[in-house]
Amino acid sequence: MFETLERLPADAILGLIAEHREDPRESKIDLGVGVYRTVKGATPVLDVVKVAEQRLVDQQTSKAYIGTAGDPAFNAAMQALTFADPGLNDRLSTWQAPGGSGALRVAAGVLLRARPDATVWVSDPTWANHVPLLGGAGMSLKPYPYYDTHNHVLDIDGMLEALGTAASGDIVLLHACCHNPSGLDPDRDEWQRIADVIEERGLLPFVDMAYQGFAEDVDADAFAIRHFAGRVPEMVVCNSCSKNFGLYRDRVGTVSFLAADASARDVVGSQVSNVVRTLYSVPPDHGAAVVSMILNDESLTANWKLELAEMRDRLQAVRGLLCEALKAEAPAADFGHLVRASGMFCFLGISPEQVTRLKQDHGVYMVDSSRINVAGITEANVGHLAKSIAAVL
Ligand code: LMR
Repeated sequence: MFETLERLPADAILGLIAEHREDPRESKIDLGVGVYRTVKGATPVLDVVKVAEQRLVDQQTSKAYIGTAGDPAFNAAMQALTFADPGLNDRLSTWQAPGGSGALRVAAGVLLRARPDATVWVSDPTWANHVPLLGGAGMSLKPYPYYDTHNHVLDIDGMLEALGTAASGDIVLLHACCHNPSGLDPDRDEWQRIADVIEERGLLPFVDMAYQGFAEDVDADAFAIRHFAGRVPEMVVCNSCSKNFGLYRDRVGTVSFLAADASARDVVGSQVSNVVRTLYSVPPDHGAAVVSMILNDESLTANWKLELAEMRDRLQAVRGLLCEALKAEAPAADFGHLVRASGMFCFLGISPEQVTRLKQDHGVYMVDSSRINVAGITEANVGHLAKSIAAVL
């Protein structure tokens, strides 16, 4: 049986973890997979998570199955964090999911049942796993322009023009904030123009929010979602708690469906429940229980926001650090776009060949597109990093 299978190349992002691990050079630098790192290069468990986990150990009385929807207290807290509008509760249902990827896969299952022939418009570029994940589920995808690689700015006109040709009932995948991989987001005026096209064409916004709190703060980063929710009859939102709660391996996320009214919401819910049952039956609980503990406790929430701000501030600071170091090492090149981006990522703007040389000759690891995770930059390695980049330019 298995002789019929062909070996596939390693995943473009996750494959870098093993490659970097196996590199014996002490000076190696990992700018690959999107995990946060401290000044010491560690990805520690957040303090607030440790406190919540301890409470959970002390208080949890059962590990019996949770329902297909997960924990209602977690879902309600995530819904409030995302939409911040109790007036929408009658039209909204939020489901605990195994990470942002699990949330996307559930959304795909439900959307395919609702409208199997809809096209999903995805930004060019988008997260490297969006296309395999949604396409693998059976969705038809089409790119819309997003990033002007020459000028390192958002191609808002190209984006609006392409979405203006979408058929009624098509789906538009959008990144709520900290666009992965470019780090460039529409401003508020541009979000409103995107919403205009979505309304005019009768499109369904499908918003992926994997970095809430990494651009400005949890409320500002949800602007697009809250704006759309006030204007459109239906919408799907996927959240991930991997980055903002540092719960990567615990697989915590939600998928929310906004329907036209309470009765439509309940019909959608019956479909979601059935899709979940056929994919993984019930969601994993530990990480979601931790997030629920945090978000349902004022003092823990305040502490979480402080730790989140610390991560956000460090990411912004190291962008500046690299930009300054590059000014010194490669004065002819312009890397100003590094500080115009937000969140974990941005493009360096070099070729795949230069990316390979950085890896082979200098032990600097990043995705072939030259997307870098700026969390891998520290005061200690920025000098070597800037010199290495200058050497391949
Ligand atoms: C990334 O883009 O590096 C992260 O979202 C991790 C992943 O699963 O790809």
